[in-house]
Amino acid sequence: MERRDSDGIVLFGATGDLCYRKIFPALYHLVRRGLLTVPIIGVARQGSDVAWLVKRVRDSLKAFVPDADEAVIQKLAALMRYVDGDYNKRSTFEALRKALGSAQRPLHYLAIPPSMFAIVIEHLTATENAQGARVVIEKPFGHDLASARALNQTLHKHFPESSIFRIDHYLGKEAVQNLLALRFGNSLFEPLWVRGRISHVQITVSEELGVEGRGAFYDQTGAMRDMIQNHMLQLLCIMAMEPPVSNDPNAIRDEKLKVLHALRPLEGNDVAANVVRGQYRAGASKGAPAVGYLEEKGIPPDSTTETFVALKAQIDTWRWAGVPFYLRTGKRLQEQVAEIVVYFEDVPHELFERASNAGPNRMVISLQPHDSITLTILAKNPGETMRLRPVDLRLDMDESFKTPQLDAYERLLTDVIKGNLTLFMRRDELDAAWRWVDPIREAWARSDEAPKGYTAGSWGPAASSSLIARDGYAWHGEL
Ligand code: BG6
Repeated sequence: MERRDSDGIVLFGATGDLCYRKIFPALYHLVRRGLLTVPIIGVARQGSDVAWLVKRVRDSLKAFVPDADEAVIQKLAALMRYVDGDYNKRSTFEALRKALGSAQRPLHYLAIPPSMFAIVIEHLTATENAQGARVVIEKPFGHDLASARALNQTLHKHFPESSIFRIDHYLGKEAVQNLLALRFGNSLFEPLWVRGRISHVQITVSEELGVEGRGAFYDQTGAMRDMIQNHMLQLLCIMAMEPPVSNDPNAIRDEKLKVLHALRPLEGNDVAANVVRGQYRAGASKGAPAVGYLEEKGIPPDSTTETFVALKAQIDTWRWAGVPFYLRTGKRLQEQVAEIVVYFEDVPHELFERASNAGPNRMVISLQPHDSITLTILAKNPGETMRLRPVDLRLDMDESFKTPQLDAYERLLTDVIKGNLTLFMRRDELDAAWRWVDPIREAWARSDEAPKGYTAGSWGPAASSSLIARDGYAWHGEL
């Protein structure tokens, strides 16, 4: 199928945080690289004008692209238009159609609360803004399976699946795509990527930040829906999927879907045994005192929303039978880390003496703060005795390529403009992820046990360490 580039960009929610922090900087970089020359229309209910929007863009660049080039900013400003109006009114969308001029294939970016999606989409269709268009939807995509399905139904009334781009910004991270390259572009690792060779896998996305002024949103969401349902399960899929038959978006998404379908359900009593939920208490972050979650602005004092989740997942397939995947994520933890750690089986018969820290081989695929791959092997300590200690083979992507990486949003926006769906979630993937997550949340709702407290600045509740220690392992970095 021929894919043509979008010929206009419409930003709903142009005054919002997402545009300010992520989308404006991404647009700047696209203009700088000569990839963006089409009109960009901000839509908001602000009672302002294009000059205001351009000022907002300039402020965003000052904060997030401090070395931005004035000539590029001016080019970007020249592409900007502004439509002011209420999303509930048809007239707003008629004004949008006018502002889009001759554009026939606009891209509508819905950086707005999900409660507004349906009304905006219906108006887009009614005012001839939807035909030939692509639509970008930000997470949270629903709050459970039923609401995600309802949202998809609305979308499908107006757009074919091939025009719907559901963003999970983790898929736009260079390191996540590198994982695909590592697994399927090299012959070295794939034979080892199997039970019997790998003992277990750990996936951690830990943040030092707390809820940062997003208290009201976060309290309705929690770590399970904010991070596990999307980012973490996507990482697990890419780590665990079978080799796709081609690089085609659907070939890759078909394989990811199979992983989600093979995840062993966690329901009823399995939840207490395999999932730990936590909530931070007062402590410290980056050397400064930090308040507890319940003292944060906008959080009800009796909230049971989880700010931490650790869980043990099993993938029931030939490849992964018996290999646990441990997932851990949380706010106000000790360090900001996003990594996948693959622990290989130990040698079957030990010949040599080992240093106390010399365990089995492991590979750390680090997404943040640095994009790197570290393979830890055992080598002989120099000297007369045959004593082994761990040494690292380290590949640092920044150092190796010396080319600045694309930010996830820059990469994903380029893909939407070009119509490439590979890095976006398909409807059935999303359904499968909710189907796995919902019973865990339901079990929590039925339980009268509150989330376990942990001190801000720690690695989470003690129960998280016990979860993995039970199987004879320890979290990477937590020793
Ligand atoms: C977002 C979550 O999707 O991802 C945030 O809503 C979280 O709560 C963020 O902080 C983490 O993304 P990154 O790219 O900073 O690791």
